[in-house]
Amino acid sequence: MALAGLVAVLLPVFFPNLFKPLGRASPSMFSEWNAPKPRHLPLLKAAIQRQIPFRQQLDLWSPLPDQGWKPCIRSADDMLFLDGGLNQQRMGICDAVAVAKILNATLVIPHLEVNPVWQDASSFSDIFDVDHFISALEGDISIVKELPSEYSWSTREYYATGIRDTRIKMAPVHASANWYLENVLPILQRFGIAAISPFSHRLTFNNLPPNIQRLRCKVNFEALAFVPHVRELGETLVSHLRYPVTESQAMGNLFVKDGREQMRNQGSGKFVVLHLRFDKDMAAHSACDFGGGKAERMALAKYRQVIWQGRVVNSQFTNEELRGQGRCPLTPEQIGLLLAALGFSNSTRLYLASHKVYGGESRISTLRKLFPLMEDKKSLTSAEERAKVKGKASLLAAVDYYVSMQSDVFISASPGNMHNAVLGHRAFLNLKTIRPNMALLGQLFLNKSMEWSDFQHAVIEGHIKRQGHIRLRKEKQSIYTYPAPDCMCQA
Ligand SMILES: *[C@@H]1O[C@H](CO)[C@@H](O)[C@H](O)[C@H]1NC(C)=O
Ligand SMILES: *[C@@H]1O[C@H](CO)[C@@H](O)[C@H](O)[C@H]1NC(C)=O
Ligand SMILES: *[C@@H]1O[C@H](CO)[C@@H](O)[C@H](O)[C@H]1NC(C)=O
Repeated sequence: MALAGLVAVLLPVFFPNLFKPLGRASPSMFSEWNAPKPRHLPLLKAAIQRQIPFRQQLDLWSPLPDQGWKPCIRSADDMLFLDGGLNQQRMGICDAVAVAKILNATLVIPHLEVNPVWQDASSFSDIFDVDHFISALEGDISIVKELPSEYSWSTREYYATGIRDTRIKMAPVHASANWYLENVLPILQRFGIAAISPFSHRLTFNNLPPNIQRLRCKVNFEALAFVPHVRELGETLVSHLRYPVTESQAMGNLFVKDGREQMRNQGSGKFVVLHLRFDKDMAAHSACDFGGGKAERMALAKYRQVIWQGRVVNSQFTNEELRGQGRCPLTPEQIGLLLAALGFSNSTRLYLASHKVYGGESRISTLRKLFPLMEDKKSLTSAEERAKVKGKASLLAAVDYYVSMQSDVFISASPGNMHNAVLGHRAFLNLKTIRPNMALLGQLFLNKSMEWSDFQHAVIEGHIKRQGHIRLRKEKQSIYTYPAPDCMCQA
């Protein structure tokens, strides 16, 4: 393979305005922390009393059947160690490998820009196992950890302080392979190096040669493994979730469970990961009413004013309209009711993968009433075990990603980067993922006289085809969210 030169990708993280940090905005003068009360009390009361038929639980916890699709790529690696990375950054890394391949160039391990929201300066090698990355892609492209000394002048500072011939600054969003051949290859040939920045979302999903598409998937689903200490912490969490110390074990009776009891405890040894993104940004941007009363409504309106100068599309609709259209994020209470209606009993082990929840413990506590065995990183590990990831948002997210990939069922309460990344990765491995039917739920929750049995019935009907059924990628959709058919083959 002719090496046309080096491609250095300075990989900034792309963040839509939605995630702009509040930063300097002054704290609200309203106390929005008056405990938000449950909004669907009759449903909640019924859900807490729920009895789930055995048959229904069996279906819920059973793995997906073979759907006739398998990953096309194969490697000697144990699939259990396949975990992904940090969503946006990860997609950028996969695209960087693909671009290097298109250009026959050597890739320099991408530089990750400091994430503006989480202020996490973790580098590629802080998050991902670099040696695994390089060896997994050996034979596909060549990768170097650092620039060879003759190019050592090509630094971030060098590019930050002037216009440079070797810097490609104007790669269009979703550029084609030809764009790189026409615009970057000549620079590589002339100078031996090209630095592409910005680089997020700079390679198209359409009309690429099949080998390039598969290489992107190979990077995403195989070559990107988290550093060992993240995997170890993830494994610790998974094993606490799967093998909880029960009361009887604690008393020394290891074998009290007879067969019958095991039958009743469908889902024992199994767990659900709930990715709950319900933060102030999202709550404010949705322009929905979450029942925290006037104080909360005012606080969210003020936030919209400060962050987006009030330019929020949803603001032109009423709360009822937004709910009917399924445009409101589900609250912890609502996602709890959804899970309960689907048939998850109160002995379900639920792992909460999330950052802060707007409204704090008072919102979480409603969910906990439905799922008393709810856990998170803190409840399952000691401060000592978490020491290496403490305060590092990327690593904390990496741990949640790892646990999400090991769960029997994954459900996300809100679409977003993490949701899409995990959804795609789980589709690749044929793992169960429940996608809430937002429009249906919005309508059901609007009906204040809804009875539990009707709710349950409608929820089950509305989610039959939303549990991980293969959806083929359509034009323009991301290969990382919809890996079939590009990266999966029909068995
Ligand atoms: C689950 O619900 C049953 C029946 O309502 C109750 O007896 C039991 O204590 C609950 N389990 C937990 C873990 O709360
Ligand atoms: C890259 O290498 C392949 C195979 O050796 C060759 O067909 C292709 O033209 C090369 N592309 C460039 C841009 O050099
Ligand atoms: C609301 O729910 C009740 C009871 O479940 C049902 O009879 C009624 O038709 C529903 N109303 C609407 C507008 O869907």
